[in-house]
Amino acid sequence: MVQQGSGAAAHFSDHGYQVAGAEIVQGVPAVLERAETLLKVRAPSDQEFALLPEGCLLISLGGRDARVEERVRQRGITHLGLERLPRISRAQEMDVLSTQATIAGYAAVLLGSARISTLMPMMSTAAGTVRPAKVLVVGAGVAGLQAVATARRLGARVFGFDIRLAAGEQIESLGATFIKPDWLTPDAEGAGGYAHEQSEDEQSSAIRTLSEHLPEMNLVITTAQVPGRPAPCLIEAKGVAVMPNGAVLVDLAAEGGGNCALTRPDAEVVHEGVTVLGPTNLPSAHATDARRLFGGNMRALLTHLSREGGIALDETDPITVALLGHKPSAIITPTVA
Ligand code: NAI
Repeated sequence: MVQQGSGAAAHFSDHGYQVAGAEIVQGVPAVLERAETLLKVRAPSDQEFALLPEGCLLISLGGRDARVEERVRQRGITHLGLERLPRISRAQEMDVLSTQATIAGYAAVLLGSARISTLMPMMSTAAGTVRPAKVLVVGAGVAGLQAVATARRLGARVFGFDIRLAAGEQIESLGATFIKPDWLTPDAEGAGGYAHEQSEDEQSSAIRTLSEHLPEMNLVITTAQVPGRPAPCLIEAKGVAVMPNGAVLVDLAAEGGGNCALTRPDAEVVHEGVTVLGPTNLPSAHATDARRLFGGNMRALLTHLSREGGIALDETDPITVALLGHKPSAIITPTVA
């Protein structure tokens, strides 16, 4: 079953889903009431939870939300939280955070490059010469590396900052310059390829290191995060104030509190001639590919969970156990709706 019109904003028609074998159902309540397995991008609201059949399987991006986990327990629903997917090779094709962050990293550079008062590439003509813009990317995970690659393609001089040595190698492999924190050691890498949360001293040192580079940067893209923690504040108001007039900072970590002290989610703040943007849903600006990638991730996940006759949650499977956030008490076998 597919909710009527749910693909419209991404230019996927109801007819296309019907051709692929789906039944088009009018209205959210009608879908929820009949769902045995529900795929939803954002977790259901409280009203939507009330409509879900007891015992159904929910797959959503609600895995870091205490409210969702409480509703799930209250209603006897099983929840696979997509944020909990382990970053291991076998799970890569199901990794929604990676596909959406890839789009966000790309879109952040396009957004910022359209707003800065300088040009991105070097242009050298007999009539005049333009120097390439300088772009700093803070946090070089999935979104950050895509931002580095996109800014390079647009011809900027690109610098990347991260607290993992592996990220430094990846920044350099894309032709950018790695700005390395003084204290960086191989231990900064935590479980699952993610960074550890930094100590206060390390964070202050990162703020100092970045502020030395900010006076030259025309565009700054920030993406630093440690899963499940508030975004580290790495650029203070005085750091923004030293950036060139007409520069732009795009803070992709806005929803988690922001990497810049001035960031406001989905708002534009102008400080000392510098614009700070905090977009929280950039993938929707490229909805066709965002949905196509999301759909591919979901297909891979459902295929992984499928056993004869339906979906089975196997407690010996590390991907399933991680998505559940706990060990299942039994193997449950709802059928696919
Ligand atoms: P990721 O976990 O792959 O990358 C985060 C990077 O930040 C890692 O390389 C990590 O080492 C680095 N990092 C952590 N603490 C740091 C610190 N103190 N200093 C410097 N680097 C640090 O995460 P991903 O998937 O790239 O997402 C990045 C951010 O973008 C997240 O906050 C995510 O929620 C957000 N995002 C925003 C979207 C939007 O539309 N605004 C869409 C998709 C993701």
